[in-house]
Parts: sequence; C-alpha cells; structure tokens
Amino acid sequence: MSHQDYKVADISLADWGRKEMKIAESEMPGLMETRREFAPQQPLKGARIAGCLHMTIQTAVLIETLQELGAEVRWSSCNIFSTQDQAAAAVAANGTPVFAWKGETEEEYWWCIDQTINGPDGWQPNLLLDDGGDLTAVVHEKYPELLPKLYGLSEETTTGVNRLYHMAKKGTLGAPSFNVNDSVTKSKFDNLYGCRESLVDSIKRATDVMIAGKTAVVCGFGDVGKGSAQSLRGLGAQVWVTEIDPICALQAAMEGYKVVTMEDAVEVADIFVTATGNYNVITHEHMKAMKDEAIVCNIGHFDNEIDVDSLRQYKWDQIKPQVDHVEFPDGKKITLLAEGRLVNLGCGTGHPSYVMSNSFTNQVMAQMELFNNWGKYERDVYILPKHLDEKVASLHLGRVGAKLTRMDQEQAEYLGVPVDGPYKSEWYRY
Ligand code: NAI
Repeated sequence: MSHQDYKVADISLADWGRKEMKIAESEMPGLMETRREFAPQQPLKGARIAGCLHMTIQTAVLIETLQELGAEVRWSSCNIFSTQDQAAAAVAANGTPVFAWKGETEEEYWWCIDQTINGPDGWQPNLLLDDGGDLTAVVHEKYPELLPKLYGLSEETTTGVNRLYHMAKKGTLGAPSFNVNDSVTKSKFDNLYGCRESLVDSIKRATDVMIAGKTAVVCGFGDVGKGSAQSLRGLGAQVWVTEIDPICALQAAMEGYKVVTMEDAVEVADIFVTATGNYNVITHEHMKAMKDEAIVCNIGHFDNEIDVDSLRQYKWDQIKPQVDHVEFPDGKKITLLAEGRLVNLGCGTGHPSYVMSNSFTNQVMAQMELFNNWGKYERDVYILPKHLDEKVASLHLGRVGAKLTRMDQEQAEYLGVPVDGPYKSEWYRY
C-alpha cells in the first residue's frame, strides 16, 4: 500500500467539503481574481510552502489559490479545535498533504506541524505561512538550519506579529517576514467585522443562551474587542468593556459602552469574553466570584487569557464537545467554552468567507512578494505597500455592489495624491 501523505478525521467528508468550498469561492473575490490574474505566470512555481492556519473551508480556498499559482503546499491547523473536518478532507482528497482534525491533543498538534516541515523525499519548505507564530517558532527552535534557505514567512494575526517584532528586536528573527495582520484590509476587517459575526454565532451554537438583556463584558477594546462588543450589543446585551490603554478605553466610552474593571464586573455580568492577546486576564479569583451559570470564553489567539489551568482542580462536566460546565466547591457552575481557546473557531466555524478573502489575498500577495523579490528584504518585519492594500479592497467592492468614485486630475492635485492612489499617508489610521 502506498504511503498516505495526509492525516484527517474522515476522508469521506471530502464531497461535503468541496461543495462548501464552491460556495466559499463565490464569496472570495479577492482570491479568485488573484488566481485569474496571476495563474498564467505561475509566480509561485518552485515555492514550497508550509502553512499553519485554521484548517477551515476558507483556508481550503487559500491553499488551492497558492497551488494554482504554482506552489507546493503542506498544511496544519494553528489550533487543536479549529479544523473543519470536511475542509481538511476536501483538500486532502485533492492531493494536498494536510495534517489537521478537530480535537487534536497537544502532542498531535505539534506532530502535525512537524509533518508540514518534513515531507517525503526530503521535502522541506522554502516559505512559511503562519497564524500565531507556532510554525515559525518550531522552525527557529528545532530546524534552524532551514532558516537561511527560507525566502521568508508571512504572519496572519496580532499575537503572531507581536512575536515576530520581539524576535526582530532581539536579533533572532531568521527570515524576512511579512506582517499581514497590519494590512488595513486585514486587521480593520477580519479582526473587526469578522469577530462581529463569528463571536455571537459561536456563543449561540455552544449555549443557545439569550443574549438580549444580559450583561456582557469584553476584555480588550482593540480591533477584535470592538467587533465583539458590537456583536453582543447587536443582540441586545448591555456591554461593558475593560481596557488598559486609555485611548481604547476612551473609544469604548465614546461608543457608549461602560468602561469598568474586572473587579466591578465579575459578580454581576453574565457573559465574559477576552480579546486582549494578553495573558491571565480572567483569573481564578475572578471566576470564583462569578455568578452561577456565567459564560466564559476567549476570542484572542492563545488559551492563556483565561486561567483555565486553575479550573482543573474542580469537577468538569462536558455538555458537548468544547462546552464544559465547571463546578466550584460551593456548587456554583460556570460554562467554559472551547476550554478557553478561541471560541469563534472552537465552537463556531470562524469568520465568513468574504472577510477571509480580504485577509488571504494579503497573504497570497505577501507570499508572491517574498518568493519573487526576497533580495529586497532583510531579516526584519515588513508590511505590504499601501497600493496593494488598496488593491485588495478594490477587488472586494463589486461583490457587495459598492461603486467607487474617481477623482479628476484637479481634485487629485488639490489633495496632493495620485488619481490611482495610494490615497492616504502611511500614518492615516482609518
Ligand atoms: P489589539 O492589540 O488591537 O487589541 C487588544 C487590546 O487589548 C488592546 O487595546 C490592549 O490595550 C488591550 N489589553 C491588553 N491587556 C489587557 C488587559 N489585561 N485587560 C484589558 N485590556 C487589555 O489586538 P487585536 O487585533 O484586537 O487582537 C486581539 C487578539 O485576538 C490577539 O490574540 C489576536 O491574535 C486575536 N485574533 C483573533 C481572531 C479570531 O478570529 N479569534 C481574529 C483576529 C485576531
């Protein structure tokens, strides 16, 4: 029997996955247009990409876009709960070595990443596409000999990007890196509008709780927190916000949210959501003080925003996968979602395709730039130029029936910007 170069939960889910991918493609104009524009030139021919990013339907469309542009790809998910098994099956059935299933153990998680770095016949990547920085860390720590052979890497999320800047500052970053997160068409769309749709969706799928009338606390009012707060308010919750940054706290107040500390909120709120990218934001003491049937979840990248370890000493009762009742000695119970891992991918299916098309078109552009122009880059962290950011946005206007106004030459001269863009300064904040 030939060696099977993939590991998924159930390959027979491939047809279902393929049907969902077809629908997703109709909602991902950026990726589909990128295929049409660049596939004839095969700009990624010779690229060997190891990818570590939530193995969802949208990611399946990203993978096949990279392949259509000429790349060889191996893939794992960047979270043990975020894989959609039908998506993994669909890409595996199409011949992509994917190592991902929903509900991996920690040990299996790291094994899956390893499989993407070491393929058959000595296959190893020359590009990395990461979300959260785990693949990047494994390559730096376990396979440092690969670093000089890399054209570079691109990173999807705020937390992963923070890790890259830390490494660059310490001088330990081993390859040119693109910060995809801080393309405007990524963080100001995916983090914000993506979470606005996927946060409440996942809480509802997990608990069916009535949101209206409840008090919900969102910890962190960055891009993810802003979207999360809006989504809870949309269904009628009273939303309270905690922040450490006075600017973000003031923004929350101006939006009409009550800005509080956890100490003000723990005994009264019904739903708690962490969105900080920081750690130990909801502590054991906080959870001890919460009321019976409080719902606790995290939408930030890592599971250490909530001190889940401190709950291990108590009785856990699984309601269904990724939904647990944790019972305290006094009989009080809290509902913990996705064991504190990012709830919208653990208890839901992540962001909608349309917003992920924005993020992933930036990813594809970063990969093409690194592979074709690597000589221009040091071992440092870069952001895609603004004209590409604007291009990503323009690729998505048609699908929502948005018509762009075009300046005439006189107006452009009056503003001092080219008629064809870029339209804003680097320091413009959108
Ligand atoms: P951000 O940096 O824009 O926002 C985080 C906010 O949390 C900041 O305003 C910061 O001041 C605040 N904060 C930090 N420590 C705090 C504390 N102890 N208490 C209260 N507030 C605190 O970051 P962004 O883009 O909003 O991302 C947040 C997290 O979500 C990151 O881990 C990121 O990787 C992740 N993320 C998750 C997504 C998902 O689909 N689940 C999508 C995009 C990002």
